[in-house]
Amino acid sequence: IDDLISEGVAGKRVFVRADLNVPLEGTTITDDGRIRAVAPTVAKLAEAGAKVIVASHLGRPKGAPDPAFSLAPAAGRLGELLGREVAFATDTVGESAQAVAASLADGQVAVLENLRFNAGETSKDDAERGAFADQLAALADLYVGDGFGAVHRKHASVYDLPKRLPHAAGDLIATEVGVLKKLTEDVKRPYAVVLGGAKVSDKLAVIDQLLEKADRILVGGGMAYTFLKAKGHEVGISLLQEDQVPVCLEYLARAEKRGVEFVLPVDVLVSPEFPDLKGKTPAHPTVVASDAIPADQEGLDIGPKTRELYAAKLADAGTVFWNGPMGVFEHPDFADGTKAVAQGLLDSPAFTVVGGGDSAAAVRLLGFDENAFGHISTGGGASLEYLEGKTLPGLAALED
Ligand code: 3PG
Repeated sequence: IDDLISEGVAGKRVFVRADLNVPLEGTTITDDGRIRAVAPTVAKLAEAGAKVIVASHLGRPKGAPDPAFSLAPAAGRLGELLGREVAFATDTVGESAQAVAASLADGQVAVLENLRFNAGETSKDDAERGAFADQLAALADLYVGDGFGAVHRKHASVYDLPKRLPHAAGDLIATEVGVLKKLTEDVKRPYAVVLGGAKVSDKLAVIDQLLEKADRILVGGGMAYTFLKAKGHEVGISLLQEDQVPVCLEYLARAEKRGVEFVLPVDVLVSPEFPDLKGKTPAHPTVVASDAIPADQEGLDIGPKTRELYAAKLADAGTVFWNGPMGVFEHPDFADGTKAVAQGLLDSPAFTVVGGGDSAAAVRLLGFDENAFGHISTGGGASLEYLEGKTLPGLAALED
């Protein structure tokens, strides 16, 4: 982006592909981390005199306008953060977008409506995606890719559009890639990885890679129960991906062979039913050993002994990467595991990286100071796919 600016952006229309995919309750943004992360890039371009057109997806609408997924609240928040008025186009490439793009003065900023309101954005058909990218390209002179959270998506605005305009990476992408590169190249040991979240299938590819790189892998959250099952334990009505049990078994064996410590919960908090997150009514969980989960109970957080164990495994680490909550942290009765891991990262002298929308939001929603961590990534799937060593379409397009 600095090269682009030094070549001169004043008076030019610059399309910034951001990731403003923030969690919403109605029209209220519950965590604005992703907007704050990209705001400096937008400010930098505006200060250099560019006419800045910011675009993003939000949620997964079905390729047509859907008011529940409007980017209007995110545009409002961006304006507050920038301390300047931000125009909003009520469509992506239609009359409103064209009028807004044409009316911008030097240094002014606009946000387009959700890119996924157009089916061309996510289409698997190259021609359909290309046609949408052509329409987006007509709005701008230059392209800046700074939506790190979406670089793993082969979508029109991420992959096809930079092929049509002179392009550069923004500062957020540069920072994110710099940090994740360190984790793949010169990591300070012991390298501990904490993985949580609901689905084990989402994390298998990254575990496959990490078995070659990490010294310790600590598992919590919904995915832990498939590993516990692989170890021969009954898991009651806990989340279980039965078809992944053989893969988990293979990974446990590989970890042992390679001398990677693979640590699973020794105790868990269980409840006969999933808690009501909206009403936040008490759930009365009980603590049980992880090899004694009753048949009618569901594991919803790691237990106190596991919290201590995981904190100890982080205390002498040189590097920690954490992705995915340890339990249903949105309910106060099941937040202690996630809190303990966050605190474990803070108490450790290690370089700490929090990856993933959920864990990053958890850290902030549970009241931790985000600046106390080494790095909080704005990318969930993107950071995992980077660590898997995959080619990410949005980065490849910018490097081209
Ligand atoms: C994310 O939340 O991980 C990114 O914004 C990408 O969103 P997606 O998974 O809906 O493509």
